[in-house]
Amino acid sequence: MHELTSPQEMRAWSRAERARNRRIGFVPTMGFLHEGHLRLVDRARERSDRVVLSIFVNPLQFGPNEDLAQYPRDLERDRRLAAARGVDCLFVPDVAAMYPTEPLVRVHPGPMGDTLEGAARPGHFAGVLTVVAKLFHYVEPDIAIFGRKDFQQAMLVQRMARDLDFGVEIDVAPTVRELDGLALSSRNTYLKGDDRRAALALSRALRAVEQAWRNGEADPKALQRRGLEVLRAPDVRPEYLELVDDQLRPVARADARTVVVLAARVGPARLIDNVVLGEGIASDVAVRTS
Ligand code: PAJ
Repeated sequence: MHELTSPQEMRAWSRAERARNRRIGFVPTMGFLHEGHLRLVDRARERSDRVVLSIFVNPLQFGPNEDLAQYPRDLERDRRLAAARGVDCLFVPDVAAMYPTEPLVRVHPGPMGDTLEGAARPGHFAGVLTVVAKLFHYVEPDIAIFGRKDFQQAMLVQRMARDLDFGVEIDVAPTVRELDGLALSSRNTYLKGDDRRAALALSRALRAVEQAWRNGEADPKALQRRGLEVLRAPDVRPEYLELVDDQLRPVARADARTVVVLAARVGPARLIDNVVLGEGIASDVAVRTS
C-alpha cells in the first residue's frame, strides 16, 4: 500500500494510474476506521482497479463547540485495516497541506444544506463539500463511494458532482450496523456504560416508524409521532425525526422511497441514523464487531 501526504503527489499518483487505463475508486473518510468504512472499500474494489482511501479530520466541517479536538484518531490501526482490506493508496494529508490559508471561497450547498443536520450544524455542509471537492481534485476518481448512514451528506455530494460537473460517479452504499441495530460510527467510541444501550433507541425508533408504515399508516405527522415516542427514551435527547424525500424535502405522504432521518444526543455523543421505508433496516448490513 502506498501512503501519500502531499496533494501534489496524490494527483501525480492518480494521473499515472489513469494513464495506464486504471479506473480509480475513492473512499474519503475521517479515519478511526470501522467496518462501515471498510465495506465502502470493498465496494470501491469491486467497481474499480485502484482504490484510494483518504483520512483527514476536516476542521472546516466542525462547529466551534463541536468535537474536533476529541475526534478519535488511530493512524497506526487505520493503516493496518486499510492495507488488509486491499487499499492501494492511503492519502493522509495534514491541515497545513489541505488549507495553507483558510479558504475564503467554499462550495455552498444551497437549500439542501440548510435543513436537518445543516440546521443543527451551521456551515457543516459547506465544510464537507469544500473538502470533498478538494479531495476530488487531487484523486480525480472515476467513482467515489459514500455511506447512506450520512444520508444528507451523500445526497449533497451527489448533487454537487452533478450540478458542478465533477465527472465522478457517486455511489451510495447501505448502512452497516451492529447485530443489535446500532449504526457503526467513529463517534460510538464516546458511548460508555449505559449510553451504549440507550443508543439503541435510534434504530428502534426507525424500526417503529417502518413497522407503522407497513401496517398502513402513511401520514408523516402520525409516523413522526410514533418515532419520537420510541426515541424519547431514558438518557436520549432527540434533536429531530423527519420524513423526507431524496432532496431532503418533507413529504406529504410516506411511500417506499421516503427516508426517515433522525438525530439524537446520547451522553456526550451526537448520533444520526436513517432508514428508507421501502427497504427497511433489515436490508442494511449487520456485522459482529466484537
Ligand atoms: P466519516 O464519518 O469518517 O465517514 C466516511 C464515510 O463512511 C462516509 O461516506 C460515511 O457515510 C461512511 N460511513 C460511516 N459510517 C457508516 C456506516 N455505519 N455504514 C456505512 N457507511 C458509513 O463522512 C465523513 O467522514 C466526512 O464528512 C467526509 C465525507 C470524509 C468529509 O470530510
